[in-house]
Amino acid sequence: MNNLVIAVDGPAGAGKSTVAKIIAKKLNINYIDTGAMYRAITYKAIKENINIEDEKSLIEMAKNTQIDFKENNIYLDGQIINEEIRTLTVSSNVSKVAQIKEIREIMVDLQRKMGQKYSVIMDGRDIGSYVFKDADFKFYLTAGANERANRRYKELKEKGHDVKLDDIIKDIQNRDEIDSKRDFAPLVKADDAIEIDTSNKNIDEVVNDIMKYIN
Ligand code: DC
Repeated sequence: MNNLVIAVDGPAGAGKSTVAKIIAKKLNINYIDTGAMYRAITYKAIKENINIEDEKSLIEMAKNTQIDFKENNIYLDGQIINEEIRTLTVSSNVSKVAQIKEIREIMVDLQRKMGQKYSVIMDGRDIGSYVFKDADFKFYLTAGANERANRRYKELKEKGHDVKLDDIIKDIQNRDEIDSKRDFAPLVKADDAIEIDTSNKNIDEVVNDIMKYIN
């Protein structure tokens, strides 16, 4: 069976998840937020008091962790953790955890299995460049760092998180740096990805741009 695989990559706050969710609905396919998987591992490590620098323990923990997606919920060892993984504490530690090759291999394996089971639109950093190099469609969304930080700030405030814009700007800059400089499967635009700068576009415009390519 030939499943449809759409990759949406780009830095934090470029609008990937909002746009990918809408397109998943339009096409009636599954949306997979791969950042949420790295966040889930990071959240569990913090909860279990594992030192974020202790790679060996993190890898061991990841090997003994179950991550599932069902009906737009993310499950960590059977528990829904949609909100818990969005805190600034998780955000500011996740890039360190996501640098670890062995942890990425576990996550990538899960992501490839999902793409084999059903049609997906998957958002992340390395979906088009590494996880699904032969994806049917690859998009790379960008926007200026301040614009991305403002969007994240609004999003978190709306959900009731107590955050400061300055902290979010620092977090985004820090993650951009770590995510794009790591050795294994860094954040990079795949050569054959279509780049869309979302800085001056609203959500509908970005969705329409993407749908034009898919149709
Ligand atoms: O998309 P997000 O901001 O929720 O992602 C959280 C972090 O996870 C991000 O800073 C880098 C990492 N990540 C990754 O390394 N590879 C992916 N495919 C997705 C996310």
